Amino acid sequence: MSGSEAPNHTADLVIVANRLPVDRVVNPDGSIEWRRSPGGLVTALEPVMRANDGAWIGWPGGTDEDLEPFVEDGLSLVPVHLTEAEVEEFYEGFSNATLWPLYHDVVAKPEFHREWFDAYVTVNRRFAERTADVAAENAMVWVHDYQLQLVPAMLRELRPDLRIGFFLHIPFPPAELFQQLPWRRQLLEGLLGADVVGFQRPGAAQNFVRLVRQRVGHKTHRDMVYLPDGRTVQAGSFPISIDVKGLEELAHSEPVQQRAKEIREQLGNPKRVLLGVDRLDYTKGIRARLRAFGELLEEGELDVEDAVFVQVATPSRERVEQYRVLRDDIDRLVGRINGDLGRIGRPAISYLHTSYPREEMAALYRAADIMVVTPLRDGMNLVAKEYVACRYDGEGALVLSEFAGAADELRQAFLVNPYDINGMKASILEAINADPKSLNKRMKAMRKTINEHDVSDWASSFLDVLSETKPMHRKQLRP
Ligand code: ADP
Ligand code: G6P
Repeated sequence: MSGSEAPNHTADLVIVANRLPVDRVVNPDGSIEWRRSPGGLVTALEPVMRANDGAWIGWPGGTDEDLEPFVEDGLSLVPVHLTEAEVEEFYEGFSNATLWPLYHDVVAKPEFHREWFDAYVTVNRRFAERTADVAAENAMVWVHDYQLQLVPAMLRELRPDLRIGFFLHIPFPPAELFQQLPWRRQLLEGLLGADVVGFQRPGAAQNFVRLVRQRVGHKTHRDMVYLPDGRTVQAGSFPISIDVKGLEELAHSEPVQQRAKEIREQLGNPKRVLLGVDRLDYTKGIRARLRAFGELLEEGELDVEDAVFVQVATPSRERVEQYRVLRDDIDRLVGRINGDLGRIGRPAISYLHTSYPREEMAALYRAADIMVVTPLRDGMNLVAKEYVACRYDGEGALVLSEFAGAADELRQAFLVNPYDINGMKASILEAINADPKSLNKRMKAMRKTINEHDVSDWASSFLDVLSETKPMHRKQLRP
């Protein structure tokens, strides 16, 4: 960390997200370390920030210190402090125990608490005020994700000169579910402070426009909302992607290839390596996928001498009850499958609770014959795209849930319904037994798709629409 500060009112592009790209970690000996933050949002936005000079406003993790703006690894970062109570009520509470499950098809039961929403309002206001301090006149501000849905309207009040975009990285639920929220109108009005509101899929944009019409009573036409003050808000779908070239280059590098070989050797050179990589989250369908694999072993369709499942699951949001329950469940399930079906030196599932550097992730993708991505609901799922980016050899198979946004684009994957365990078992077997030629054809088609639309295309498609909302302030950003 260098000491240089991000000066006020100077940034022409401001990214506002709950998390900074780095997380402040205090080691047991008291020393401080900055680690890459978890999740797809940071994976996608980091290369965008590197290509465009700007400031990134976010929470550095933890509650210890109110930090000054700083530059880390070439990125200009502006920390927003959260107190212990705000972490509990705003982050773990309203963001991750109310909105997260509600927006993901209520796969877990959302909790509604008035004091959590109060903390959400307070923290959103703090983010809006910090942004108003940092943004240059007429700057573009891009607010991200479900933790900050009130920021656009709060910011517009403070700084009407700004062009404000909002992008939701997770699904936006159908009206029938969204309507459960006691604060549904406040959230919709918060989002309407933006000039452009972006979603991963067209259906989400339609859900939003329909709710605005029904609940707030504004006129709408297709993706446009017409406000009484004459302003318009444009909704739209902007499916997110990854830095395809950067990851492919990394996958090509000698150390990564070497490491991929080593991983297979360490696993005992089985015929087939299956891989799952997720944050340990109940939306990811980890339980169902491991059960499917366990049953295939039990029924003799697969043998532990030939096939191993590597499941990498980074612990996430560990103080939220539903996440604690999930972690115990998966620990038990892995223990049971390995205890019943493993042999000495041949566990059925190799289960790892670690966060790895990008090189190790690329090596894992290179080492895996079958990538199994089975969320019950997911905005996009970047892991699926990362796997495809690393398979420059055209080998490998992707088993992918129909309920991930990525399924709209990766049509040649083995698409599965994660609620249908028998269907998943059949698709895993089909992928394992498919002939290399047909796998090659599928992989090539998926690679073509992701090569045609990488993360810089995603960012420029959104920012182009945003800059067109006020043509006199149009600013050219490097793709
Ligand atoms: P989400 O954003 O819900 O976590 P995504 O699949 O969209 O899901 O993005 C996850 C991102 O986090 C990917 O870039 C993936 O490579 C990364 N990731 C997931 N698990 C790990 C891990 N164990 N170590 C390092 N990176 C990980
Ligand atoms: C998903 C969300 C992000 C979030 C990330 C990690 O990608 O869309 O907004 O930052 O998960 O979750 P966490 O709660 O650790 O920030």
